[in-house]
Amino acid sequence: MLTNKKIVLAVTGGIAAYKAIALTSKLTQQGADVRVILTGGALQFVTPLSFQAISRHDVYTDTFDEKNPREIQHIQLADWADLFVVAPATANIIGKYANGIADDLLSTTLLATEAPVFIAPAMNVHMYHHEAVQTNMNALKERGSHFIEPNEGYLACGYVGKGRLAEPEEIVAVLNDSFSLTKQLSDKKVLISAGPTREQIDPVRFFTNHSSGKMGFSLAEAAAELGAEVTLVAGPVQLATPRGVKRIDVITAEQMYQAMLSNYDNQDLVIMSAAVADYRPVKTFEQKLKKQAGTLQIEFERTTDILLELGQQKKQQYLVGFAAETTDVEYYGKEKLTKKQLDAIVINDVSQEGVGFQGDTNEVLVMTKAGKEKKLALASKKVIAEQLIRQFIDDIGVE
Ligand SMILES: Cc1cc2nc3c(=O)[nH]c(=O)nc-3n(C[C@H](O)[C@H](O)[C@H](O)COP(=O)(O)O)c2cc1C
Repeated sequence: MLTNKKIVLAVTGGIAAYKAIALTSKLTQQGADVRVILTGGALQFVTPLSFQAISRHDVYTDTFDEKNPREIQHIQLADWADLFVVAPATANIIGKYANGIADDLLSTTLLATEAPVFIAPAMNVHMYHHEAVQTNMNALKERGSHFIEPNEGYLACGYVGKGRLAEPEEIVAVLNDSFSLTKQLSDKKVLISAGPTREQIDPVRFFTNHSSGKMGFSLAEAAAELGAEVTLVAGPVQLATPRGVKRIDVITAEQMYQAMLSNYDNQDLVIMSAAVADYRPVKTFEQKLKKQAGTLQIEFERTTDILLELGQQKKQQYLVGFAAETTDVEYYGKEKLTKKQLDAIVINDVSQEGVGFQGDTNEVLVMTKAGKEKKLALASKKVIAEQLIRQFIDDIGVE
C-alpha cells in the first residue's frame, strides 16, 4: 500500500528518536520513498548517517543549507510529499506547529505543506497531560492534523504513564490505513460549489452575501484527499485552491449555474454549498449611479434556482444541498430536501454563534432522503467537511 508513496519522516528531539530508525526501515521496506528531516534536538540523539543509509537519500537538517540553487529546499520538500509523519513529536514541535512558528527546517516545512500531517507524540506523562500541550494538540486536530496516540507504559524518564511513542508497526499501520482510505474515492468525480455570488448594480456596486467559501473549499479539500477528481466552482472569495482540485472561478449566479450544469453529467457526488443570490438587479447600470434626492428603487428579478435545476436533471448523481436557516431550521431543511429532489441536505442554523458564514467553525444537521438524521457537533469547517464526505461515501455505498 505504501509503494511509491512520498513520505517525509520528521524526527524531533526525544529519547524515542532511535525508534524512528526502525520506522524509516519499515517504510522503505514497504516501498515508500522516504525523506528524513532531523531537528536540532533530534541530532542530539541520533545521527543523519543511519537515516541516510536506510532511506538512501540525503537527510535534511538545516533551513539554510541550500544545496540546489534551482529550488528552495523546504518548499520543495513541502510540495513533494504525499504525507508527513512527525515521529517522535516533542512538546516543542507540537507547540511551534500549533502556533505558526517557523524557526527551523521542520517547523518551516510543516507550515508550507498542504499534504496530510500525522503526528506521533512522545514525552513524559506530565508533559503530555499539560494543559498547554493538550491545547496545542487540540488546535492542530481542529486544523486537520492526524494524531497517532502515544501508548501507556514505562517511560524513559522513569515514570509510568501515557507518553511512549507508538511502535513503528503501529505507525506504519495508521499510514497504510490512511492511504487505503485515500482509495475510497479514487474513481469518483465530485463537483462542489462554494462562496457567494455577486450581482452587479453599477460599475462600483454589487449585491452579495457573507459567504466566505470556507465550507465548500474544505469539502473540496477533503474529497481530494480521499482521492476524488474534484471540480470546485468558486464564487468571488480570497481562498487558496486546495491541492489537486480543479477550480472554476465565477462571479454571478448565472455563471455559477452554467459552470455547474456543464460539469454535472458524469459526476458521482455534487455538493451545492455556495450561497447563491436569489435575486439580481433587472438592470445593471453602465455608469455609476449618482446621488439623488429622495429614495432609490432598484428592481430585482429571480436568478435561476441552481439546486432545483440540478435536482430535476439528476441521474446517477448523489446531490447534496446546503441550507442556511435562522428559524424552524429542521422544517425548512426537510422542505428543501423534498422540493429540490436532493439526496441529502446539510442545515446550518446561522442564528447560532460559531455557525455558518464567515467563521472557521460550523455545526450542522444532516438529513438524507432515506430518512437518516445526524447532528455534527461544533468543530472546524475542515473537520465537519471530512465527516460530511465520509457520510456521503457511506450513503453512496463506496467500498
Ligand atoms: C535526555 C532528554 C530526553 C528528552 N526527551 C523528550 C521527549 O521524549 N519528548 C519531548 O517532548 N521532549 C524531550 N526532551 C526535550 C527536547 O529535546 C527539547 O524540548 C528540545 O528543545 C526539542 O527540540 P525539537 O522539538 O526541535 O527537536 C528531552 C530532552 C533530553 C535532554
